[in-house]
Amino acid sequence: MPAFFLLMTIDEIKAAFDRELAAAETKQALSDLHTRYFGSKGVMKDVFRELKSLPSEEKKALGAAINPFTEAAQAQLKEKLDRVSADEDRRREARETIDVTLPSRLPRLGHLHPITLVRRQMEEIFRDMGYSIDPGPELETDWYNFEALNFTPDHPARDTQDTFFLDNAERHLLRTHTSNVQIRSMERFKPPVKVFSAGRVFRRDEITMRRSPMFHQAEGFLVDRGIHIGHLRATLEHFIRRLFGDDAKMRMRPSFFPFTEPSAEVDMSCVFCKGAGCGTCSQTGWMEILGCGMIHPQVLRNVGIDPEEWSGFAFGTGLDRIAMLKYDVPNIRTLFENDLRVLSQF
Ligand code: DAH
Repeated sequence: MPAFFLLMTIDEIKAAFDRELAAAETKQALSDLHTRYFGSKGVMKDVFRELKSLPSEEKKALGAAINPFTEAAQAQLKEKLDRVSADEDRRREARETIDVTLPSRLPRLGHLHPITLVRRQMEEIFRDMGYSIDPGPELETDWYNFEALNFTPDHPARDTQDTFFLDNAERHLLRTHTSNVQIRSMERFKPPVKVFSAGRVFRRDEITMRRSPMFHQAEGFLVDRGIHIGHLRATLEHFIRRLFGDDAKMRMRPSFFPFTEPSAEVDMSCVFCKGAGCGTCSQTGWMEILGCGMIHPQVLRNVGIDPEEWSGFAFGTGLDRIAMLKYDVPNIRTLFENDLRVLSQF
């Protein structure tokens, strides 16, 4: 191969190399370019192989043409590689920099259950009136759930149809109401005493739109000197207004409970129609929300309190029903299914 041919070839190689070098913009591209020209199977290896077969005079002349190209090309490669690596490093650093001033991603917060919301609101209302808060036990004896509350031994509420008994002797049971807290608290504290209590109660009921074998009640009672039914009424009016708003009205109807005398049932103006009459309140404008009365003298005697000196009132209400009214929940099961799509709305 004549020397001028190789010289031409090297000019061409240099032109091709310059073009490729200009186009290579990443470390990878530059490293590939180096391999293609100067690697063990590269273009320059072929050139040197051909060079060997030339006569020594020509070899010298050509070696003189090849070396400057090789040196310059490798220097250019290195220079560009340094520049591109520096750029890449800078870009990566910019991308990876942690901005500690950015607001953090907020953890997903849970939601309070509507019954918890109602319970807390009610506890706050009574705490503000100076009541102690005491949820009381869910497992009870016949004495605290029935006997001390003046239920006669044959009272229908004791029926195994209604009560979950825990032993065959029917002495231990799941409380059927929160009224057990009256007895527990009056035994523990000397009057004057006022306690508010909210918690779970149990009855052998079918699950329907309105009933469940486990539900929630709230109970309040107060014992002091000279307490009369006016105190009861004022307390309940205050409670209902704070929970449902100032335009909520209430009325009392005579009723019967073994542990109160006299006893009353309390209706409040329908939360949906404000008393005008609608489907929910059966067109009456009223809905029943709690039971109450003056604590029966026998109940006071049962816990060693002298009814000649002390008197008191008590009331009890369903938390589930109040939650359903307050948050417009039509079916009690909705409260116990714990469907997150429902709960996350509260
Ligand atoms: N314990 C009653 C029930 O489960 C509710 C109740 C009525 C509680 C009158 C009271 C009361 O304290 O005075 O239905």
